[in-house]
Amino acid sequence: MDAFMADVIAGLGTRPKRLPPKYFYDAAGAELFLAITELDEYYVTRTELDILRQNATGIAGHIAEGSVLVEFGSGASTKIRTLLDALPRLAAYVPVDISTELLHQEAVELAQDHPTLPVYPIAADFTADFALPAELAGHPKAGFFPGSTIGNFEPHEAANFLRTAAHILGRGAVFIVGVDLEKSPETLHAAYNDAAGVTARFNLNMLTRLQRELGATLDPAAFRHHAFYNASECRIEMHLVATRAQTVRVDGCVFEFEHGETIHTENSYKYTTARFAALAAGAGWQVEASWTDPQGLMSVQLLRHG
Ligand code: AVJ
Repeated sequence: MDAFMADVIAGLGTRPKRLPPKYFYDAAGAELFLAITELDEYYVTRTELDILRQNATGIAGHIAEGSVLVEFGSGASTKIRTLLDALPRLAAYVPVDISTELLHQEAVELAQDHPTLPVYPIAADFTADFALPAELAGHPKAGFFPGSTIGNFEPHEAANFLRTAAHILGRGAVFIVGVDLEKSPETLHAAYNDAAGVTARFNLNMLTRLQRELGATLDPAAFRHHAFYNASECRIEMHLVATRAQTVRVDGCVFEFEHGETIHTENSYKYTTARFAALAAGAGWQVEASWTDPQGLMSVQLLRHG
């Protein structure tokens, strides 16, 4: 059985029901996420890009010449481009992504703009322990993990991920991490409940995938998007709420829904600078520098593994 099927059957079989957020991103989901990043209400992407652009020289000052830059979950690699011009001469760029298609596309595009930069794409799940190419041993390492993707992890998973990254990058490495900050619940609520309903479509697209890819019998129209800020957990929660009692079937498994029952599809944790620094310290990283925007919405944290 493939991992998607197994995860869906396990997730719908638990109480409360849940589905992992990594399954948002099929082609349609990736496109919807791109549309989210362009929404007025969704400050994350735009603000992080501004921080990277405004502080590119300052960030570059922490990265040794001849470093190997490793991007975790590089996707379309748009953000690294804002840094590449400011960085000292790199020995190599190593994009790591689960999608070989995106990796190939981006390697081709980067080769055009940065023809002398050696690119070593790695097709891997970036949360697992992967190996860097042997010929890059001996170079200083810099990791890059933008987008507040770290917020999708439970705090203990985030710590595990940071520990794995420390192991992959090694002692003396820096790690540049985009971390979304705690802010007014109203601003957070709006960012995940946009007026145009794009986030709702993004969330509901998960159900369309279940139908199309797993042959699930369900009616996406019988679910609605629900996102709210859980202040005690410091996280946005996204759910799909059953608008009536119903039965969903996946590969012979039967899942009963009560009216109002939810599937928890995503957590997006928000941090204070202090809480993130404590999390990083527990995983072997010290905050060496950090940058934010004038409104303090989003942050870029530069960690060092001493
Ligand atoms: C890509 C995980 C950073 O949590 O803000 C956007 C995903 N979910 N709108 C986030 C998302 C709903 C996003 N991350």
